[in-house]
Amino acid sequence: MSLKSFPSLESLSAGAAKEIASLANQSAASRGRFTIALSGGSTPRTLYEMLAREYSKTIDWRHVHIFWGDERYVPQDDPASNYRMAKESLLDKINIPEKNIHPIPYLSTPTDSSDAYSKELQSLFKEEIPTLDLILLGLGSDGHTASLFPGMTEEEMNAGIVIVTHSPAPPPIRTSLALQVINNARNVFFLVSGEEKKEILKAVLAEEGNPDSKYPAARVYPRGGLVWFVDEAAMENKK
Ligand code: 6PG
Repeated sequence: MSLKSFPSLESLSAGAAKEIASLANQSAASRGRFTIALSGGSTPRTLYEMLAREYSKTIDWRHVHIFWGDERYVPQDDPASNYRMAKESLLDKINIPEKNIHPIPYLSTPTDSSDAYSKELQSLFKEEIPTLDLILLGLGSDGHTASLFPGMTEEEMNAGIVIVTHSPAPPPIRTSLALQVINNARNVFFLVSGEEKKEILKAVLAEEGNPDSKYPAARVYPRGGLVWFVDEAAMENKK
């Protein structure tokens, strides 16, 4: 695991964008494609806008397949939709084939949505547990990540490859990649910014890789690379 600290959200996003571009080009060269799962929430918006503004040409988006780590169970045009946030900040501004964009579908029931996404992942990856090249994650102030929340058991976090979960914060119903998919990724990047994340970041890092941690974010320990991109506001002040 490595932790990279930056003075601001802007510079954190620039650092992450640079590494994403490098991974994208390496993956496309060696495997013919780059598969990335986006995270939701507010932190990654700056990164997505930067990717659209500064990497629209240096990343060959024809080889990039975009997935989501989790989604709220809302229509895709709902202000709370992670897909909508990514569409506005990135997807509408780059030359990426529509067939390369794989949102978590909003179907008649959450289970239908998660089942459909599971089927799509298994058909695209031809693996029981998909191996994504990169999964972006955020950190909730309660230690959740994607839509894996404290209080969920290991079994619940791995009840398939895409699962339906219940969020303490609205919107209440979510669909999420299972922990086993996150931990099967070649690379995982956490993006953490802001004073309000200082306590939880310290607590999660202290339990990093502990499979019994009450913090789902601490249970993320991918077989590939794990990098924390954090800003100084979220870091414990060095005494
Ligand atoms: C979501 C995210 C969630 C998010 C964290 C951090 O759907 O909300 O997947 O896990 O990454 O809650 O959110 P912020 O970046 O807004 O602090």
